[in-house]
Amino acid sequence: MHVVSTRPQGELSLQTIAMPGDANANGDIFGGWVVSQMDLSAGVCARKRARGRVATVAIDGMVFHKPMKVGDIIGCYTRILHAGRTSLRIEVEVWRTDEFANEQEMLTAGLFTFVAIDDHGKKRPLPALA
Ligand SMILES: CC(C)(COP(=O)(O)OP(=O)(O)OC[C@H]1O[C@@H](n2cnc3c(N)ncnc32)[C@H](O)[C@@H]1OP(=O)(O)O)[C@@H](O)C(=O)NCCC(=O)NCCS
Repeated sequence: MHVVSTRPQGELSLQTIAMPGDANANGDIFGGWVVSQMDLSAGVCARKRARGRVATVAIDGMVFHKPMKVGDIIGCYTRILHAGRTSLRIEVEVWRTDEFANEQEMLTAGLFTFVAIDDHGKKRPLPALA
């Protein structure tokens, strides 16, 4: 299980606002929308490291610690935990930011595995680190 830290771990890869259209029947934000933002942010991180096209191959370890509300400003922070031959295991943390109170609170975390792929959608080796 993901350990809750007091500060975001990793690099800010995506920032957005949860909108009314992203809410579920309870009025909180729909978990599928949150996972989608996390997948996008991990994709940004993976694409940079793979220097090209990537595809999500697995999502695991998802934990929803706290509900997300309409109007929340959220940041998705990414960190590469492991780089294999063709794959990258990336930890994503989602933090709510209160810009006026200068406060942040972690809402959700998960592990995303991406594979570097070529123009035909086949796996390719990760390039050497620049
Ligand atoms: C990504 C894809 C090209 C991989 O092709 P493949 O030939 O089956 O690849 P492999 O099984 O050899 O795995 C490739 C790498 O991914 C890793 N991997 C595969 N399945 C995994 C899983 N379930 N969990 C973690 N890692 C996994 C392997 O360990 C390997 O890593 P390494 O090369 O760094 O050692 C293929 O599975 C694919 O196209 N999947 C669909 C991707 C997609 O459409 N994603 C969007 C979903 S909406």
